[in-house]
Amino acid sequence: MHVEVEMKTTTGYSGAQIALHWLVAVLLVVAWLTGEGAAEALEAIEEGGAPGFVPHVALGLAILALSVLRLLVRLGRGAPEAAGTPGSFQVRVAGWVHVALYVLMIAVPLGGISAWFLGLETGDIHGLFANLLMVLALGHAGLALYHQYVLKDGTLARMMRAE
Ligand code: HEM
Ligand code: HEM
Repeated sequence: MHVEVEMKTTTGYSGAQIALHWLVAVLLVVAWLTGEGAAEALEAIEEGGAPGFVPHVALGLAILALSVLRLLVRLGRGAPEAAGTPGSFQVRVAGWVHVALYVLMIAVPLGGISAWFLGLETGDIHGLFANLLMVLALGHAGLALYHQYVLKDGTLARMMRAE
């Protein structure tokens, strides 16, 4: 089965795409680090306490909104072709990793919302997929650095300068 991952091809990422990429990356790390606090707040509520302000929930909701916006910009404007031979194994893997990151950026907050607002038993799976998202993002970041500093193909630079 062959599914086309890259849709519209551009010469570079727009300023909006670059700003959203780095903003969401920072927020995701902070959300990941504050998950414990949400778990404690959920427990307190189950024991009859008041929720109060939970930074993790606010962050997670912001990430969901920004990720949906980001996806819409991505689908509307497109993205530059990955470095390397078009259609090669590496280029296709890069495309699928980007798709997986988008899916997780949206699915993870939805799992959190289900646990927090709907009281569903999605807390554990939410935490599990959040960890998977972090592992993928870390690999993604490592490969970006490898491209920039070992292969020297300017991959990181295009997530810095708008075109
Ligand atoms: C992409 C954004 C998010 C990330 C990376 C993330 C990450 C995490 C992580 C790693 C945990 C596990 C903490 C632990 O068990 O020690 C957690 C728990 C939790 N998160 Fe999130 N989260 C995100 C978005 C959200 C949103 C939008 C909500 C709610 C509106 C939410 C609500 C919760 C709740 C209620 C728990 C506790 C689950 C339980 O223990 O049953 N999260 N989150
Ligand atoms: C949680 C963190 C991160 C997430 C979720 C994430 C997600 C993504 C996604 C989905 C793309 C595809 C382009 C798009 O449609 O926006 C992308 C591109 C990119 N990311 Fe990240 N990213 C993260 C962190 C990082 C970090 C830390 C680095 C650098 C060390 C990095 C470097 C890049 C580069 C250079 C591109 C462009 C790749 C290309 O042109 O082929 N990202 N990122």
